[in-house]
This record gives sequence, structure tokens and C-alpha cells, in this order.
Amino acid sequence: MTQIRQFNLQNFRNCSQAQCSLSSGLNLFVGDNAAGKTSLIEAIWLLATGRSFRTSKTQHLIQHHQNESTLFCEVVSSHDALKSHRLGMQKSAVQTTLRIDGETAKGQIHIAELLPVQLLTPESHRLLEEGPKARRQFMDWGCFYQSQEFIQLWRQHQRILKQRNHALKRRLPREQIQLWDPQLVEIALKIDAIRQAYLEALTPYLLTFCQALMPEIEEEVVCQYRSGWPKNTPNLLDLMTQNFAKDVQLGHTQHGAHRADIRFKFGGLEAINTLSRGQQKLFVCALLLAQASLHEKVVNEPVIMLIDDLPAELDETHRLKLLELLQILNIQHLITSTSESLIPILAPETTQIWHIQAGNPILQKPETSN
Ligand SMILES: Nc1ncnc2c1ncn2[C@@H]1O[C@H](COP(=O)(O)OP(=O)(O)O)[C@@H](O)[C@H]1O
Ligand SMILES: [Mg+2]
Repeated sequence: MTQIRQFNLQNFRNCSQAQCSLSSGLNLFVGDNAAGKTSLIEAIWLLATGRSFRTSKTQHLIQHHQNESTLFCEVVSSHDALKSHRLGMQKSAVQTTLRIDGETAKGQIHIAELLPVQLLTPESHRLLEEGPKARRQFMDWGCFYQSQEFIQLWRQHQRILKQRNHALKRRLPREQIQLWDPQLVEIALKIDAIRQAYLEALTPYLLTFCQALMPEIEEEVVCQYRSGWPKNTPNLLDLMTQNFAKDVQLGHTQHGAHRADIRFKFGGLEAINTLSRGQQKLFVCALLLAQASLHEKVVNEPVIMLIDDLPAELDETHRLKLLELLQILNIQHLITSTSESLIPILAPETTQIWHIQAGNPILQKPETSN
């Protein structure tokens, strides 16, 4: 499911009430600082993933002096306009209610399946800079859509790992801690296989988009997958047994699927050390476009791309390049900018421009857009 036909917000950040019917191509949201541009992108990301990229505190999301926020999207298949779903989220300080087609949804996962969104913000280059968590999330986003069993395995792994770490912290008897190991290892190896297969499938797309966005770089990117335990470990269970004393000392499990990572290298050097800041941003765009292309191939539906403050992200030449690629890939995109003139309109027939003031997006008439 893969285009947002309409979204409504109520009492979210500075937006009291908004309703937007979106175009299938570019939806450009223009506004001054503090108009509510990022909030709009944040609202859609929140509905799709259950998380904000700015805060973990619900009260920051709900409009001041209100008790709850309501987010709603109608999504539609890009192949069949009759195949649509209504997704909703109601958030108060104490609870979140999710709805799909008027029924209470059992979990965020079911909304995520119907609303596959990708996000590019001026902070996205942190994917390369920060610890492995963001890179695992990147990889697992793909694994989730690629493999039906991935989410189940991931949840089981989280649950068992938590139990084991809890037992380690409480210094329970050795056999009570190691009780978890065979199952943990079995699941870790399955997760590992899915992640490896995903990265292998992703790499050719990544090479293509690196070439498209950064033709000046001669070296091909190499994605080095790290399982979360030393390379050439013949038996993960044995390794965990050998590391038992260290695990107890640390109070957590050192090796496992929860420590996986990816290293991106150009000519043998880490991307973070060899690419300029601008190139790092382009590389993150290439990663997202590669994911989007692979997703389309596997799921047969495109993703939706949310891009906050595009001019802060890329220079003019690369903005144009990215917009061309999004158009070729047939990806619905929601872009924010402080100025309309900074965003080239490549396909006026599938473009809509909104001006946001005090959280309220107002559609520009087509004749006033350029
Ligand atoms: N919970 C809230 N209730 C009301 N206003 C809020 C809330 N959270 C943030 N704001 C305000 O919303 C405005 C919009 O912020 P933001 O979406 O970041 O704007 P932009 O991205 O357009 O610069 C800011 O003025 C901010 O202070
Ligand atoms: Mg902003």
C-alpha cells in the first residue's frame, strides 16, 4: 500500500486541525521557521512507525492544553485505486490507540506493513556517524518487509535476550542463565541469515544510486556486514560459554544479533572518514533509494519518502538529481522547505504545493505554483 491519498491531523504539536489530500508525486510544504513543517513529517512518521524522530515524550507531541492528538491517513495501492486502508492513531498521555479500517489494530506492526515510509532529515547523516543501532534499524527496516518471519524472530530474540541479561545482572546460578543460550543462538543465526541476504540483495542497488548521485567517486562502496560476534566464529554457542564470566562481569550479553552492524567502505576506508559531509548526506540518500528500489521489487509497491528541509540537506544540483530519481522510481514524496523557489518542479501534473502557517497547511492554487 503505498500512497497517502489523504491525511488529517488534530491537536498535534502546533497544528490544531489539518486535512490534506495528497498528490501521487511531489507534495511540497513551504513555510517559515516554526510554521510546523517538521511537525507534519513527524506526524506521518509517528503513525507509520510508532516513534517520533524528535522526542520520546508523548506530551511534547500533543498540542499544549489538549488531552490527545489524532492522526489519520488513507493509504491506497499504487496499482489499484480501490485497494485502500484507513489508518489512525489516537495518542493521549496515558495511551495510544491504533485503528485500521475502523477496527482496533493489534499492534503498530500492522500499520507499518500498510504504510512503508522512509525518512530523510538534516540529521540523517548520523546513520554513518553514530553507533550501530541506527544502522541495525536501517537494515531491519528492509528485513521486516523482505522476510515474513523476521519480526517474529526479532521479537523472540529481544525477549530472550532481556531475560538472559536480567539473569546476568541478578547473578543467578550459571545454569539458570545458560538455559537461554541454545534458543538465543538458534534465533540469532536465523536473524543473521536474513540480514546477510538482505544486504547482499541491497548492494547492487546501492552501487547504482552511489554512481547516480556521486559519479565523482571512483571507488565502489563495499558493505561489510558484522554479525554481532567475531568473524569466523565456528560455533556461537561455544563462544557464549567461553564468554560467560565476562558476561556476568559486564551484566549483559556481549555477543549476538543485538550487536550487528554494517560498515560502509570506499577504497578500503570507512565512509565517515573518506566522504565529505555533503557526500555523506548523498550516501544516505543512496542508501534510502536502494532500499526503496529493493522494496518495490520485493513487495511490488513503492515506499513513501518523507524529506524534511531538503535545501538544508542537499545543494541545488543534487536536489534536482534526487527529485529526478524519486520521479523515475514513482515514489510519492512529501518535502518541506522554507522557500518554494529552492525546489524544482519536474512534473507539475503530479505536484501539489502547500503553504504552512501556524501548523495549518493551505493548498496553493495550481496557477500560482511554478
Ligand atoms: N506540543 C506542542 N504544542 C504546541 N506547539 C508546539 C508543540 N510542540 C512544538 N510546538 C511549536 O510548533 C512550532 C512548529 O515547530 P516545527 O514543526 O519544528 O516547525 P518548522 O519545522 O516549520 O520550523 C514551533 O513553534 C514549536 O514551538
Ligand atoms: Mg523544521
